[in-house]
Amino acid sequence: MGVNERAESAALRFVLPTSAVTIAPLGNGHIHDTYAVATVPAPSSEYVLQRINRHVFPDVAAVMRNLVRIIAHLDRRIVRTGGDPARETLSLIPALEGDFFWVDDAGDAWRMFRRIDAARSPSVAEALGLAREIGAAFGRFVRLLSDCREPVSEVLPGFHDTRNRIRLLQEAFDDHRTGRGQTVRSDADFALQRAERAGRLGELAQGGIIPTRLIHNDTKYDNVLIDEVSRRAVCVIDLDTVMSGIAPLDLGDCARSILVESERGTREPGLSKDGVNAFERLAAGFLAETSGWFTASEVAQIVPATWTVTLECGVRFLTAHLTGDAYFKAKKPEENLSRCRQHFELVRRLETSLPQLEDAVGRAWRVSQHSRGSGTIPLQQDRGEARG
Ligand SMILES: Nc1ncnc2c1ncn2[C@@H]1O[C@H](COP(=O)(O)OP(=O)(O)O)[C@@H](O)[C@H]1O
Ligand SMILES: [Mg+2]
Repeated sequence: MGVNERAESAALRFVLPTSAVTIAPLGNGHIHDTYAVATVPAPSSEYVLQRINRHVFPDVAAVMRNLVRIIAHLDRRIVRTGGDPARETLSLIPALEGDFFWVDDAGDAWRMFRRIDAARSPSVAEALGLAREIGAAFGRFVRLLSDCREPVSEVLPGFHDTRNRIRLLQEAFDDHRTGRGQTVRSDADFALQRAERAGRLGELAQGGIIPTRLIHNDTKYDNVLIDEVSRRAVCVIDLDTVMSGIAPLDLGDCARSILVESERGTREPGLSKDGVNAFERLAAGFLAETSGWFTASEVAQIVPATWTVTLECGVRFLTAHLTGDAYFKAKKPEENLSRCRQHFELVRRLETSLPQLEDAVGRAWRVSQHSRGSGTIPLQQDRGEARG
């Protein structure tokens, strides 16, 4: 059976208004296989079908239990503030057999969401322009989860245990010293030299100096859907990694996802003006939504968290390159190595631009204090002007 046929027969295991559908691949997600599903003849409703990546998430039942709880909480919060949960968060479609997922004969688990219409993931160029809007969407997301008392299991243990990630790299490097390892000695050294500093954020959390709370944990810019007409952020998606963590990592990881693409190959050693500016707008949006309860220790760790998560990503790509780790599917043999190097290049730029980034957070923080109580900041401010 071809891939689309498998997806089609999976789609028909869910509660749909008709028994005929068309299927097309959707989005650029790196983890799951995602399809757009339209009902036939008239596409009265549209859906999103996903085959869950079971290498990344072996305990599918736990993932789905978390997801159902998180969506239920978000629904309640959105309704309470007069929003529309059908558009502002994900809605799961039940499978015919009653659960919210269905397992096929090959052992793959599938699930279905209602498609959020007239909204889509931004490109990186769009994300640069919409940095404040995207930062606000992820800040709002953490705020909505802030009073969630539902039990959420740790489906990816040690997800942001940076020190352990570096230890795993060291092991992989030692195991492959004579083979692939030889060509990546300087890359591995780059990370190992930074190991101590990379562990500091985790130590602050362990010591209770910075709080941990439910966070998104996969704040890539394309996990925010943008309304095609208003250009406002509609919905944060991709909720499988929601777990307890350090909130500045959400902001830092979003910055990383944009900057690693937009700053690639520029000539200056540090970040470009546009890059710093996008970082500031991202932070301003995030802080506008979290001000009032986000702690000073969290604000102080925004820049270190951005650096840490960028290094950590590079480390994970390098380990994947050495070990053939299934988390990051590589289409070409050197793909994970080149992703690692792009991340380490960004780490260097962040190190060069630390004072500018700290200034940017300071300005974003002051702006968020002014706007406290006045709701969200108008979108026209999200047009690239640095704010002093
Ligand atoms: N409910 C939805 N409505 C509209 N588009 C969606 C929806 N869910 C996913 N998508 C699109 O599919 C892409 C991949 O889905 P995502 O859940 O982010 O998977 P991955 O974990 O593989 O990144 C998203 O970036 C988005 O463009
Ligand atoms: Mg995604």
